[in-house]
This record gives sequence, C-alpha cells and structure tokens, in this order.
Amino acid sequence: MNSISDATRPDTLKARPAKRADAPAITEIYNQGIEDRIATFETEPRSPADIAAWFEDALAFVSVVDPAGHVVGYAVAHPYADRCCYRGIGEFSVYVRRAHRGRGAGQVAMAALVEAARDRGLWKLMSRIFPENRASLGLMARMGFKAIGVHEKHGKLDGVWRDCVIVERMIPENID
Ligand SMILES: CC(C)(COP(=O)(O)OP(=O)(O)OC[C@H]1O[C@@H](n2cnc3c(N)ncnc32)[C@H](O)[C@@H]1OP(=O)(O)O)[C@@H](O)C(=O)NCCC(=O)NCCS
Repeated sequence: MNSISDATRPDTLKARPAKRADAPAITEIYNQGIEDRIATFETEPRSPADIAAWFEDALAFVSVVDPAGHVVGYAVAHPYADRCCYRGIGEFSVYVRRAHRGRGAGQVAMAALVEAARDRGLWKLMSRIFPENRASLGLMARMGFKAIGVHEKHGKLDGVWRDCVIVERMIPENID
C-alpha cells in the first residue's frame, strides 16, 4: 500500500499565482524553514505583514495548493540586484510545509515559478543553497538548475560560518 494518501499525491497538487490571502499560510511555511536552520540565514520568525510586503516587489510568486485549497508550499523570486543590467534575474526561494515535503510540492512550485518568470521576461533564476541542504540541491538538479560554484563563508548562522552553493537556470525563451 502506498503510504502517501490521495490528498498528497503530486498529481493532485496545483500551482497558481500567490494571493495576498495566502500570506498567513506562507508565513507558517517560511517560519518552519527558518526553525529548521537548513534553508536560510534568517533566524527571526516572520509575520503575515512581512510576507504581504513581498507582493510589492516580487518578480514571480506562486503558491502550491492541495485539493482542499490549502497552501502547502510556495516559491518566490525577488530582484537579484537594483542595477538595470540585472533586471531580468530573479533570486528565488522555495519552501514546502514540513508535513508535505518529499511528495512533489517543491517540484510543482519550481515548475510554476520558472513558467511565471518566463512570462515576466526574466532570463535567469538563481539562488544560494547551503551545501548541507540535500533536498534543495536535489530539487534544483531535478529542475535543470546548475550548481556553478560555492561562496565560502558567505555569512554566519547562529554564529557559525556557512558556505552557499550558487545555483542558476537560464530561461532560453528570453535570451535572444
Ligand atoms: C527543499 C524543498 C523545497 C523540496 O521540496 P519537496 O516538496 O520536499 O521536494 P519534491 O518532493 O518536489 O522533490 C523533488 C526532487 O527533489 C529531490 N529531493 C527532495 N527531497 C530530497 C531529499 N530529502 N534528499 C535528496 N533529494 C531530495 C529529489 O531529486 C526529488 O525528485 P525525485 O523525487 O524525482 O527524486 C523542501 O524540502 C523544503 O521546503 N525544505 C525546507 C526549506 C528549504 O530548504 N528550502 C530551500 C531553500 S531555497
């Protein structure tokens, strides 16, 4: 018997543009990732108002919902830098609710984010991932991202220097 219930099978998960009403659920999901200490240098929990502010500058923002409409994950891309020459580069993050990890939600989120970024005219998505984050590196490899190098001692998390693997994926439709 499959241990994954019908309600959490990947083919029942759908991505759609994130809505402001998703902010409380996205806050919970992000705060789980902050608590896990595997995904981000951030250590302070966020509020729904913090997440609502992302809608002001996100280049692409998608939510993954289960058949009941509950948000189980999201992916968001913010501008990589202010300089005009970099306007087509989105720096993204992707988070899945703990209980739903390893069931395809990350893949659904990233496929939708790439599509949304393509529609927005972005030519590249990039991110920085801790080398210890096997799930995230595995997801990126699965989605066609290349690991292009390592920032050594890029910042401190809980007082400990951490490296970051830089990953990127071109969006060829927007490169002429
Ligand atoms: C990283 C994360 C987003 C992946 O999402 P997910 O829904 O768990 O991943 P999926 O089930 O869609 O898996 C997609 C692929 O990722 C890889 N993967 C997923 N979990 C993995 C794990 N624990 N170890 C190694 N590879 C893994 C696999 O290649 C998998 O493809 P496959 O099942 O065909 O082999 C999720 O685990 C998460 O939210 N982690 C905490 C937050 C985080 O680290 N975010 C990334 C920071 S940018």
